[in-house]
Amino acid sequence: MGELKDQSRIPNHVGIIMDGNGRWAQARGLPRVAGHRAGAETLKKILPHIKKCGVQYLTLFAFSLENWNRPEKEVSELMGLLRRYLKSETSDLHKNGARVKVIGDRTLLDKDIVEQIESLEETTKDNTEITVIFAISYGARDEILKATQKIAKKCAEQGIDPSDITMDMFDNNLMTADIPDPDLIIRTSGELRISNFLLWQSAYAEYYFSEKLWPDFSEEEFNEALSSFGNRDRRFGGLLKQT
Ligand code: FPP
Repeated sequence: MGELKDQSRIPNHVGIIMDGNGRWAQARGLPRVAGHRAGAETLKKILPHIKKCGVQYLTLFAFSLENWNRPEKEVSELMGLLRRYLKSETSDLHKNGARVKVIGDRTLLDKDIVEQIESLEETTKDNTEITVIFAISYGARDEILKATQKIAKKCAEQGIDPSDITMDMFDNNLMTADIPDPDLIIRTSGELRISNFLLWQSAYAEYYFSEKLWPDFSEEEFNEALSSFGNRDRRFGGLLKQT
């Protein structure tokens, strides 16, 4: 469905802020959790398409550190959904050749969820079709702070002069070490914010804001985002550099 004609400028790494589940449910007079369930279905449906387009890395903002502040009922429903998703999708992700990684503060997650995550990462670690990174209990400022603490500790322990700290050192101490920077970040639901997502890594990312609520997001809409990306001049602060 909706095949892309020009495959020459496919972003290597796409990030998606899957927003609007609550509003989707509200518009139908349904509880918020129904919107999150529909959002999980959208994800299942669209993943094979994203892989087929040739995207190598996909990062999905599934639960932010700030989301812990939502009412207890919604947090526990989201955790329930995450548990079920991890259980039901492991084999599909594996069959799709996806290597799964999870970034975020695992110390805040229930032990059984952490175990499921570890098992999913282990099962899929040799897959090469696409890397799918779930940001769960993730906040970019927290990630940057933790990287800074690790580097400061190393400086103190190994007598490194702080002026010798490099960008590479910083990259390597983030939760995304070994993952290339995102090229395209998509946010659904018409909100024009970054909301603490991959702040360091997205310095030169292109943004695509869709009016669709995440449960309504489709292959066509994803193709639109790719076309928009394909038509942009990426100069990385210089003059003529092309991707
Ligand atoms: C934002 O919508 C979405 C979330 C807080 C959670 C994203 C979760 C999913 C898409 C569920 C599937 C993912 C996994 C891995 C199980 P919102 O609730 O902020 O929407 P609103 O702004 O309309 O209230």
